Amino acid sequence: MSGVLESSGLTVRYAGNVALSGVDIVVPSGTMIGLVGANGAGKSTLVNALAGWSRGRTTITGAVRLGGHDITGLAPHQRVAQGLTLVPEGKNIFTELTVDENLALVRPPADRTGRHTFTVAEVFEFFPRLAERRSHKGAALSGGERQMLAVGRALLAGPRVLMLDEPSAGLAPRLIADLLSRIRLLVDRGLPVLLVEQNVKAALKVVDHLYLLERGRIVGEGAADVMAADHRIVEAYLGTIAEGARS
Ligand SMILES: Nc1ncnc2c1ncn2[C@@H]1O[C@H](COP(=O)(O)OP(=O)(O)OP(=O)(O)O)[C@@H](O)[C@H]1O
Ligand SMILES: [Mg+2]
Repeated sequence: MSGVLESSGLTVRYAGNVALSGVDIVVPSGTMIGLVGANGAGKSTLVNALAGWSRGRTTITGAVRLGGHDITGLAPHQRVAQGLTLVPEGKNIFTELTVDENLALVRPPADRTGRHTFTVAEVFEFFPRLAERRSHKGAALSGGERQMLAVGRALLAGPRVLMLDEPSAGLAPRLIADLLSRIRLLVDRGLPVLLVEQNVKAALKVVDHLYLLERGRIVGEGAADVMAADHRIVEAYLGTIAEGARS
């Protein structure tokens, strides 16, 4: 299977300790792919390695392809320029600037080939709450509003594929479902998304395909409905509420 974004044999070592081992993932066009796993499993390490950056001294081996081209040797800013967009863990906004100012700072891509472009008006359509708060500073936004603003900024950059590292962190369950269903609308419009999500039940409701990461290795993957019945997912993440996972 070929995808917009693919990794093969991706391995990351932090000062000799292996954090990610031989990871092959595929993000096909027009799909939403979920990545789940326990704390410390290597989820952030994986999306960061795809984006070309790391938080410490790392050795990265393996290959990454974007739109069929090998981008393994590219620096993070070059990958961004190619449309590989990551909204990292934590908030990626300017807290001293208003919502409008945060959005106005994003430069659309010069070459729009293969890119999914969005206007500020469309960002406000996807996230009406942001439009209501457009003159408020980032610092005054709630956790969910900050996540929406971070995603909005990523959209204005004209992504080819969007990677989100726990966009729902810290949100109440009701708000998680709302945020993820809005992100699903972006996918339905054609934008491929790789979503790292702690809330496996909520992820299974929106993704097409799910990867399970344990101690730096992909130990399971499959269509969302198949994975919702996978015993490892049920036992570790869904418990007795498994029957309701897709309802
Ligand atoms: N800069 C670093 N230096 C050394 N080890 C690191 C560094 N960053 C992460 N690690 C280790 O790599 C492993 C994977 O960490 P990572 O942050 O990718 O996990 P995660 O799945 O994103 O976890 P979480 O759900 O808590 O965000 C962990 O054992 C972590 O301690
Ligand atoms: Mg993480």
